[in-house]
Amino acid sequence: MELKGKHIVLGVTGGIAAYKAAELVRLLIKQGATVQVAMTESATHFVTPVTFQALSGKTVFTDQWDARITNNMAHIDLSREADALLIAPASADFLAKVAQGLADDLLSTLVLARDCPLLVAPAMNRQMWDNPATQRNAATLRTDGIKILGPGCGDQACGETGLGRMIEPEEIVAELIAHFQPKLLTGKRMLITAGPTFEAIDPVRGITNLSTGKMGYAIARAAREAGAAVTLVSGPVALPCPQGVTRISVSSALQMCEAVHNHVGNNDTFVAVAAVADYRPIRTSAQKIKKDGSAPQAIELVLNPDILAEVAALPQPPLCVGFAAESENLHEYAEKKRRAKKIPLIVGNLIQQGFGGDTNTLILFDDDGQHPLPPAPKIELARQLVARIATLLEKR
Ligand code: C5P
Repeated sequence: MELKGKHIVLGVTGGIAAYKAAELVRLLIKQGATVQVAMTESATHFVTPVTFQALSGKTVFTDQWDARITNNMAHIDLSREADALLIAPASADFLAKVAQGLADDLLSTLVLARDCPLLVAPAMNRQMWDNPATQRNAATLRTDGIKILGPGCGDQACGETGLGRMIEPEEIVAELIAHFQPKLLTGKRMLITAGPTFEAIDPVRGITNLSTGKMGYAIARAAREAGAAVTLVSGPVALPCPQGVTRISVSSALQMCEAVHNHVGNNDTFVAVAAVADYRPIRTSAQKIKKDGSAPQAIELVLNPDILAEVAALPQPPLCVGFAAESENLHEYAEKKRRAKKIPLIVGNLIQQGFGGDTNTLILFDDDGQHPLPPAPKIELARQLVARIATLLEKR
């Protein structure tokens, strides 16, 4: 319910991606938003207003002169309570209209008369998107403070492949949620490690752990929502990369360590969430190890570098944040770890309460003491952690 209490006016313009707007309405409502749909006349040739009416539970307007609007002030009334006006799909023609400030139908009039942020998700053939006129219009929209979502790259309804397709409804919803988050980290850069590492024994076997990467990925998403440029160094996980985040995929602790050292230089904050394997096999067999009937081979281990401690020991370290996942004595172990690694903030959690799941319970330990964060979805906790990081960055 990340859009609870938000009122969204969704404008649908004429393009084949209009069918995806129906799914978009469903997803927005699932996140707790109320949705008022307005369509251009040409959009109704692709999907009927009845579809949107059934999904939104509200009358769908298409006509400026609709007799149901008693005062004939549709352009004012429909968007009065809106927290955002979203146009998806936004056709090339509609973008041109908005760029020029034209208001010759209900939706374009709504846009011109709005008193809320406008987000548009373009959808068109790749050549229409590439056309200098469209690019000029897109640049004008950006200058006017209008947020352009996408477009995406891929197969198009016309059979061509390229840039111009509407980003997926799930991505639009994620962008809208991000839009409403406070921009606490604008201009900041954050490097994050997440997930497990995999320490190879041979080409098919290795030592790893059950970290899912969910907490690290949630922090990456929350930091990006807050306006930071985020680089995520990720061990092997089955999660999609959060939108707008640069992901570097690694496998072993040594690879993770190298990636971190390569990127840490221009970051303000380093958040080490990865469950890095403490040890790796001294040797990795190039060939699959065969069982030959004799006694099993012992695997000799060697200590991995402590990535977080290494970064914290740099001459000019970024703000370093560590995680302490413990199964007991959380307070004692977390504080001990914070001092041992010489980091200003450590996030403690009991493994029983968060490992693998979508929710967690955290305690932040820093120089000001302890800050318990009660049980909540990981993305909620990640946003609270990002707020704490923003405060600490301000103090630096
Ligand atoms: O020492 P311990 O593994 O308990 O510390 C956990 C914290 O240190 C986490 O933030 C983890 O990401 C980080 N860490 C690391 N490199 C290691 C081991 C842990 O960055 N080799």
